[in-house]
Amino acid sequence: MQVVKESSSSSSMRMVGESRMESVYERVRLLVSGNAVVVFTISGCCMCHVVKQLLFGLGVGPTIVELDRDVAGKEIHAFLFQLAGDGQQQPVPAVFVGGKFLGGIETVMACHINGTLIPLLKQAGALWL
Ligand SMILES: *[C@@H]1O[C@H](CO)[C@@H](O)[C@H](O)[C@H]1NC(C)=O
Repeated sequence: MQVVKESSSSSSMRMVGESRMESVYERVRLLVSGNAVVVFTISGCCMCHVVKQLLFGLGVGPTIVELDRDVAGKEIHAFLFQLAGDGQQQPVPAVFVGGKFLGGIETVMACHINGTLIPLLKQAGALWL
């Protein structure tokens, strides 16, 4: 984490906010590019549990980031909220495969049903067989 100086002026507060978001973006980028499958979750989130069980069931060992236990959890949550975009209410679970944002529970389920999830996981090196 970078150290930021507190300031009373609103313009420098905005800059602090922006640089914090930048470091969050960088952290997420490093996480998702260094791991085949990354799932961002919050404890007590039912759909997070469902998506983890689906991946475990397929034999994938995803990297799990629990936002409510992470120092930058709030910022990552805000970042995922932007990423999920178009009116999606819950930014978690957020699943990244092969360094790319796949989506939330609905997209992952839809990909599983239409047969594109397993090839995607294999391509990312998360599944061998
Ligand atoms: C499978 O579903 C996903 C998620 O809805 C979609 O993006 C993708 O285009 C679909 N692929 C096929 C081959 O239907």
